[in-house]
Amino acid sequence: MFELSEEQLMVRDMCRGFAEKELREQAVEIDKTHEFPLETTRKLGELGIMGVVYPEEYNGAGMDYVSYAIAVEEISRVCASSGVIVSAHNSLCLSPIYYFGTEEQKKKYLPKLCTGEHIGAFAITEPGAGSDSAGTKTVAAKEGGNYIINGTKNFITNGGYADTHVTLAITDKNGQKNKNTSFFIIEKGDPGFTVGKVEEKLGICASSTTEMVYVDCKIPEDRMLGAPGDGFKIAMHTLDGGRVGIAAQALGIAQACLEEGAKYANMREQFGAPIGKLQAIQWMLADMATEIEASRLLVYKAADILSKNGKNRRPASKYAAMAKLYASECAHRCAHKCIQIHGGYGYVKEYIAERLYRDARITEIYEGTSEIQKLVIATNILAEFAE
Ligand code: CAA
Repeated sequence: MFELSEEQLMVRDMCRGFAEKELREQAVEIDKTHEFPLETTRKLGELGIMGVVYPEEYNGAGMDYVSYAIAVEEISRVCASSGVIVSAHNSLCLSPIYYFGTEEQKKKYLPKLCTGEHIGAFAITEPGAGSDSAGTKTVAAKEGGNYIINGTKNFITNGGYADTHVTLAITDKNGQKNKNTSFFIIEKGDPGFTVGKVEEKLGICASSTTEMVYVDCKIPEDRMLGAPGDGFKIAMHTLDGGRVGIAAQALGIAQACLEEGAKYANMREQFGAPIGKLQAIQWMLADMATEIEASRLLVYKAADILSKNGKNRRPASKYAAMAKLYASECAHRCAHKCIQIHGGYGYVKEYIAERLYRDARITEIYEGTSEIQKLVIATNILAEFAE
């Protein structure tokens, strides 16, 4: 997979053009104001970017996962906050509804999500269940034809703006860990559901990260996604796709670091010449560019495996984790070097290097830390070589 198709090139050009025109100036502003970019997110919906891989019958753009990765990469290259909004919406909310929803659920929720008229979110993290997703404490108790949900989720991307989100809750309190939870679709306005604390973050400041609080939240039983007990597996399936989105976000940030570093190296003079003439700077740029190309191959490969395997994501699991691990650590190293090239100017807000550094950091944490990605990769390798 070394050449992009015409469709993939078209998505790249379209998203690059949109990001330059609509997001570049805004990204600086909303990093300061922490304002969620609702208007440009809706415009991305009009371009098909809020439902990239979903079929046209649900208003999706019907494209492949490489196109999706390219879209997230190009948007994140200019505005990493918008990148995660798009990624969490597409990968984490639409995906479980599309792959595990009934036809009625898909018809009800996907069309407005795919056009960006509605924003989506995915709630599995809890104060006591971060890396250990199966440590969920939120419960959903059956009462007649309804479920009553009680619990609190935290660090939920798009939380404050989500019209629809999916949430994980225990439905069998005596059941085995990993088999005792189920997923539910929650709508804004459901009785007993409120958005809780809004987090102030180091980076991706314009994305919304909140608690989701359920106090006797009553929803009809037909809001369950999949079968009772399927919750953990749906979460893992969803994250196998989501990690490709975050890897693409990291790739976009890394690319921005390279471009900013190279432009500055050509422009900034010290010792009577542009600093780009200095071998110390050249080596940094060479390392950045090489690692970015390697990340891109990993991200596109993982995306391609997702496209080729439909609902069966197990073949993509290891590659999605590799892409996320490598691209996020690459973004971190590139952001570090970008600041180093800028020297003192990299540490102040006159240049975007410091924002890229702050934005890059989260990619090593959310949708599974680097340590969790290594666990997923190693578990897959051991299974491949088991007798
Ligand atoms: N797909 C389907 N099923 C899977 C799976 C996958 N990728 N991975 C594991 N499973 C199944 C296993 O086959 C096993 O099933 P059986 O019991 O039937 O054999 C079951 O799930 C349990 O598997 P494990 O024993 O491997 O599970 P574990 O409890 O050890 O946990 C883990 C594995 C990898 C650590 C997992 O908990 C994990 O991924 N943790 C990280 C959570 C995470 O990424 N959180 C991010 C939150 S979302 C977010 O960050 C969004 C945002 O803001 C943008």
